[in-house]
Amino acid sequence: MHPLRYHAQQLYMDDQPLDDIAERFGTPCYVYSELFLRERYHAFAHALGTNTLTCYAVKANGNLQLLRLLASWGAGFDIVSGGELARVLRAGGDPGKIVFSGVGKSRAEIRAALEAGIFCLNVESAAELERIAQIAAELGVQAPVALRVNPDVDPGTHQYIATGLKESKFGIPLAAAASLYRQAALWPSVKFIGIAAHIGSQLIDLQPLGAAAARLRALYEELQREGMRLQHLDLGGGVGIRYQDEVAPSPADYAAVLDTALAGLPVRRVVELGRALVGNAGVLLTRVEYWKENEGKHFCVVDAGMNDLLRPSLYGAWHTIWPLRQKDLPMRYCDVVGPVCESGDFFAKNRPLASVPPGSCLAILGAGAYGFAMSSQYNSRPRAAEVLVTGGQVQLIRRRETLADLLAAEEGL
Ligand code: LLP
Repeated sequence: MHPLRYHAQQLYMDDQPLDDIAERFGTPCYVYSELFLRERYHAFAHALGTNTLTCYAVKANGNLQLLRLLASWGAGFDIVSGGELARVLRAGGDPGKIVFSGVGKSRAEIRAALEAGIFCLNVESAAELERIAQIAAELGVQAPVALRVNPDVDPGTHQYIATGLKESKFGIPLAAAASLYRQAALWPSVKFIGIAAHIGSQLIDLQPLGAAAARLRALYEELQREGMRLQHLDLGGGVGIRYQDEVAPSPADYAAVLDTALAGLPVRRVVELGRALVGNAGVLLTRVEYWKENEGKHFCVVDAGMNDLLRPSLYGAWHTIWPLRQKDLPMRYCDVVGPVCESGDFFAKNRPLASVPPGSCLAILGAGAYGFAMSSQYNSRPRAAEVLVTGGQVQLIRRRETLADLLAAEEGL
């Protein structure tokens, strides 16, 4: 479920005491388990089988060292920007296993993707398809594309991360997609190779995903009857994980949903998993600065803020919080809050927490996905360090930003 355990009152990630990591690298600090990430990747890749291209959604956590590991294990990559393309290429990712999603691809991004020779561009509108066709013609190549359709299913998740409903900005309505496939089938500079969808994130019930896959299948069969030969269906990402008490789908559950919906269909499958691979591989370490009490309400003020981990502020997301030592101290109900000047700067509300002394550290769990990736320098706070626990060793994989980093892009202009 996650790579953490207490031993003699100390919290370990794999075989490493997290308190030592907090001392050595300072706080706030993200720490990831290579072992856990590797097990999750292989569990999904194995359950889905060789007929599936298992891509990692880089947006969840784009750290170069994590991308290098995933590339070495054979993963494909789902990217959403030229920046993510650059990261994957730098990490040694195979361009032939990259899918490019995203609703607003710029000319420069499309050009870079075509020049790199990526596997597929997932197209979000007729206008974008025209732009891709034009750039491919200029480059003298044929662009491999899938239309990202909007299957109009309710994924039953937080409204900010539901993407497959008809009122959302994502994808092309099913009926419109069918006519766009027909209309552009003979354009010389694009080649339709698949159909794509992504209905939302943190799905605990996979039924909606099965329903979406069935709708993609129906579209595939309709186009096939008309003579169009597509090679893959891309089901996006979205497999949920346990943050609190959710019963998250296993790799086998996920594979079974796709197997059932797509049984007998002669196509390759593509998936784009982010959170399910890296979410529970990571924690955010933070130090208690102060305890304060206002009108009987307790606040635990820590040195990480919403700029480091935005999910509680933005989605009201739950992250479990454990002390790195002394977990048996009496509990105190408190809000765990950061130093940023916003009332929304909190990690937990009215949560029982061991009353550890100031100076001691806490781990915020489930922070591997959309943690560092969504962090910012808001309030002029340098971004946190990132550390990898890897087979008996601890490795810095992103140094803590400095005050000089904060100023660098504005000085000497
Ligand atoms: N593919 C596409 C086209 C996506 O838009 C996403 C996520 C994924 C794959 C990966 O989804 P995953 O397997 O990680 O659920 N910041 C939010 C999550 C936003 C997800 C956006 N799209 C959060 O912290 O919960």
